[in-house]
Amino acid sequence: MFRDIFHQSGLPQVIIEPDLTYLEMNHAFCEFLGYTKEEYETLTIESVSHPDDFLLDYRQFQRLVKGSITEYEMVKRYIHKNGSIKTGRLKVSRIRDRATQRVLYLGQVYDLTEFTKIYEGLRQSEQKYRLLAENSSDIICLHDSFGHFLYISPSIKAELGYDPEELIGCYSPHLIHPEDQDVVTFKEQTITFRAKRKNGSYIWMETTIKRVINDETCACSQFITVSRNIQKRKETDELLTKSEKLAIVGQMAAAVAHEIRNPLTPIKGFIQLLNSGMEVSSQYSSIVLNEINRIESILSEFLTLAKPTERKMEAICVDELLEQVIQIFSPQAFLANKEIIFQKSGRSNRKIKGDSNSLKQVFYNVFQNALDAIEEKGRIMVTLEEGGEVLCVRVIDNGCGIPEERIKLIGEPFYSTKEKGTGLGLMTSYNIIENHDGTISFESKEGKGTTVTISFPYVEKEA
Ligand SMILES: Nc1ncnc2c1ncn2[C@@H]1O[C@H](COP(=O)(O)OP(=O)(O)OP(=O)(O)O)[C@@H](O)[C@H]1O
Ligand SMILES: [Mg+2]
Repeated sequence: MFRDIFHQSGLPQVIIEPDLTYLEMNHAFCEFLGYTKEEYETLTIESVSHPDDFLLDYRQFQRLVKGSITEYEMVKRYIHKNGSIKTGRLKVSRIRDRATQRVLYLGQVYDLTEFTKIYEGLRQSEQKYRLLAENSSDIICLHDSFGHFLYISPSIKAELGYDPEELIGCYSPHLIHPEDQDVVTFKEQTITFRAKRKNGSYIWMETTIKRVINDETCACSQFITVSRNIQKRKETDELLTKSEKLAIVGQMAAAVAHEIRNPLTPIKGFIQLLNSGMEVSSQYSSIVLNEINRIESILSEFLTLAKPTERKMEAICVDELLEQVIQIFSPQAFLANKEIIFQKSGRSNRKIKGDSNSLKQVFYNVFQNALDAIEEKGRIMVTLEEGGEVLCVRVIDNGCGIPEERIKLIGEPFYSTKEKGTGLGLMTSYNIIENHDGTISFESKEGKGTTVTISFPYVEKEA
């Protein structure tokens, strides 16, 4: 039975004489090194062993023969008949032939060649990626699922002044400015924040977060982040927006001067009448008062655009906000023989993050444009749809529409087709929507009407 098991086993096995020659071997062993049984008769263990590993095997075998041990195990390299190297875990044990009482040795080899190749491949690719990480100017980090640093590439020294070793094990969000803590997330995304340098100062960084999913548990076990210093970019951005703002204010001053000149004409006339000593009816004074009010409102609008008030971001129910704007807007529409209808999809009211005054301004601009586009009788339909990812408001009018080639001009400063339009309404709206991570788009058919679609991401994903 032993003989059968020995010969049929897929595990390469040999029986070795005390003088290190092969007495018997199974088929698997012949295959392992590529020799036939007959060829093995002329071979010793030394001739099929890797020269660097033979000596250790030989010493262990001698201890076994002397009886100081009863078996040994080692990982050992062999030379295949074709010259290639095979790796195996060799286990040699002492056995006794019951019939003759001879002491022999049983060698069993677990073939590790394939495993070694894979391992070597992994080691090489790890070395390659490590080389990339170590020489990248971006800061590449690995974090555990709680946000502690497991690996940090050396470029952190140049950007933030820390040695990677001093941060290993630390909670990574501790490096983020206290006011920017709300960017801390366990989602895959790109975030910007101020990062604390070792000397206590802060610089702007942009970080892309990727989750590492464990193959076995399918759970997120680690995070990889790639961070870049964007201090310079932030500074130029700020300079740009400042100079853009200045340019806009300059151009707007011209528009405002133009707007103010119109109401000044009746005021001037009224003063001239007063001067000539004529009796002036109270009707005239109310006209003058109206014109002065108009100047006042133009100026205050100009000021809010030129010097935007601080934005307060809070959770907002768009449903209620739309109701409010429509309520203010309806009388104006009604007087112009136009109608504004609000249609809701009637689901739960999920919130978005935003500044309610700015958002009101956006809807007011868009409603006003729709109203302006309707020449005579008409209606504006406002719909609110709650999608899975975003909340979507559509403002649909049946007005004059926009020629296809002009759609791309919409939102550019001072693009207006209206006699009294400033062409700033949609530019400001685009800006506000962008600050809310939202989008706006126009669809239009000349003579039929226009649909403006505005969408915003929710504060939180649907549970
Ligand atoms: N619903 C619409 N239907 C047709 N044209 C539109 C519509 N909305 C915008 N437009 C076109 O886009 C242009 C720019 O709009 P925007 O709101 O920026 O400026 P405006 O309405 O002309 O001026 P302001 O808003 O400053 O009074 C308008 O002049 C108009 O030609
Ligand atoms: Mg407008």
